[in-house]
Amino acid sequence: MAILVSGGTGYIGSHTVVELEEAGEEVVIIDNLSNSSLKTLDRIEHLTGKRPVFYQVDILDREGLHQVFEKEQITCCIHFAGLKAVGESVQKPLEYYQNNIAGTLVLLDVMRQHDVKNIIFSSSATVYGNPAMIPITEECPKGSCTNPYGWTKSMLEQILMDMQKADPSWNVIILRYFNPIGAHISGTIGENPNGIPNNLMPYITQVAVGKLKELGIFGNDYDTPDGTGVRDYIHVVDLAKGHVKAVEKIKEQPGLGLYNLGTGIGYSVLDIVKNFEEASGVKIPYVIKPRREGDIATCYSDAKKAERELGWKAEKTILDMCEDSWRWQSQNPNGYE
Ligand code: NAD
Ligand code: WQD
Repeated sequence: MAILVSGGTGYIGSHTVVELEEAGEEVVIIDNLSNSSLKTLDRIEHLTGKRPVFYQVDILDREGLHQVFEKEQITCCIHFAGLKAVGESVQKPLEYYQNNIAGTLVLLDVMRQHDVKNIIFSSSATVYGNPAMIPITEECPKGSCTNPYGWTKSMLEQILMDMQKADPSWNVIILRYFNPIGAHISGTIGENPNGIPNNLMPYITQVAVGKLKELGIFGNDYDTPDGTGVRDYIHVVDLAKGHVKAVEKIKEQPGLGLYNLGTGIGYSVLDIVKNFEEASGVKIPYVIKPRREGDIATCYSDAKKAERELGWKAEKTILDMCEDSWRWQSQNPNGYE
């Protein structure tokens, strides 16, 4: 009996595989390695003493997926596989809709054919658009996304809900992540962006390690306490543990479940710079730049529903997140290369 983890060699997937193995679950990973490295498997094995079963399969490859479901005793899928770069999705909308939406449709169809009807899906706080309420509860209506990536998450949520409504023997848990940062405390697995990072924390860590000159802060005239954007940063290991709780929940056959995974706390860009400097002892030079198109001022969760219904609560502090991001980056200045 195994959990299929699509995208399991990626950033959040690899941390989730570690937590699943530590909770005693059998894991089978599928990934096309478009944004991850095989070396992740060695690192996972080093951490847990157990090498996860791995298949290099694309979720668009129906035949390849069939073979995996025939060989392995899959009971549930945690579905991380997808493209996630916001800016790139604006340039390549067809590739994003094809990979994320068509890929998920193929995966769901193959799951159904093998009578595996339990899925935990990686969604994002981006589906709230410019949120109608702060903190954001799950009752907050979905909003208008500013990029195709965000729409793939919003549309996939709808597809999963329609599917579960039409066939209630499906159990679907949708997890809306806020801003995952940090790395495993060992510093052996972490986030490994291609090229110049788009997200705040990998940008800061690459400045700290000397690969980038200075941080550009996108706007200091937002309606926030210090004028810079406020987000709900969550440690990737807390996030991974949220998936272990979702696996436990899905065994109770919940039908449909939808949860925010955040800390409930908002930090500004300047708060993150300050905490990172304290955690690393490295000064981060920065310049104020114009606002980035599509950004919102403030986004943080109300995380009580996950605590109530999944028994999960983020535990790590912002300093933990900064320390662990720094340990990963300083021990692996070129990621998995
Ligand atoms: P990641 O890019 O590190 O991991 C995604 C993995 O999916 C990669 O290993 C990639 O090779 C694989 N993949 C992509 N397309 C595939 C395909 N067609 N077939 C098989 N494998 C494929 O990203 P991540 O940060 O770990 O994100 C995991 C999931 O969580 C994604 O769905 C992402 O959209 C979602 N998410 C991420 C964040 C974030 O900030 N990191 C926030 C909210 C939601
Ligand atoms: C955080 C804050 C920036 C970089 C994105 C996706 C979202 C989700 C998580 C997947 C903002 C500021 C950033 C920089 C900066 N991903 N910033 N200089 O935009 O909240 O969310 O990742 O689902 O969909 O949109 O995260 O880390 O890019 O930005 O000033 O070089 O840092 O303006 O206020 P974001 P981020």
